[in-house]
Amino acid sequence: MTRTTELPPADPQLADLDQILFSKGQIAARVTELGEQIAEDYRDKNLVLVGILKGSMMFLSDLSRAIRIPHEYDLVGAHSYKGGTKPTEHVSITKDLDINVEGRDVILIEDIYDTGNTLATIHTMIGLYHPKSLAIASFLYKARPRARPLDIKYVGFEIDEVFVVGYGLDYRERYRNLPCIGVLNSEIYQ
Ligand code: IMP
Ligand code: MG
Repeated sequence: MTRTTELPPADPQLADLDQILFSKGQIAARVTELGEQIAEDYRDKNLVLVGILKGSMMFLSDLSRAIRIPHEYDLVGAHSYKGGTKPTEHVSITKDLDINVEGRDVILIEDIYDTGNTLATIHTMIGLYHPKSLAIASFLYKARPRARPLDIKYVGFEIDEVFVVGYGLDYRERYRNLPCIGVLNSEIYQ
């Protein structure tokens, strides 16, 4: 077998980014910290992580492995429809929980806290199952005004109001597989 010192070819999707905000290494380091913090906070609890499809998949899978205490995870699906010229959004649930979370300590796992509509809807829905506690972890937190602010207990990184992709976050279903978080060049979506 011949060995080569050449690096694998770079993902061409990287050319569509204006800027890389967080590298693969920075993300891994922060997720490890969050996992350690959660393990400490939930050591004597009955933890279930609930990821919101599809954006939180990468964060959920890395975070779960960084939380070194027994826990389960499940997924819920949500789809938000931008209401045309209306300022409000309608969020519909596309996949319900499989695990019974009644009396358990749930952390909702989201990719990004933007308007908060998705999280608010799912937070209310999970609350109806009577968990013992219900907290939120969001990998990214966009600094912006919100009508109904939620308490996000665990935040990976705070960012400005820019459109980002990578590490699960998409633009028209693309870019989710980038290992970093980057600002998408606005020419791509004009
Ligand atoms: P919400 O506005 O907080 O309800 O966010 C809804 C969803 O929009 C998030 O779960 C993301 O999937 C998506 N989203 C919001 N901001 C961005 C972004 O900057 N890049 C990619 N997706 C985003
Ligand atoms: Mg999306």
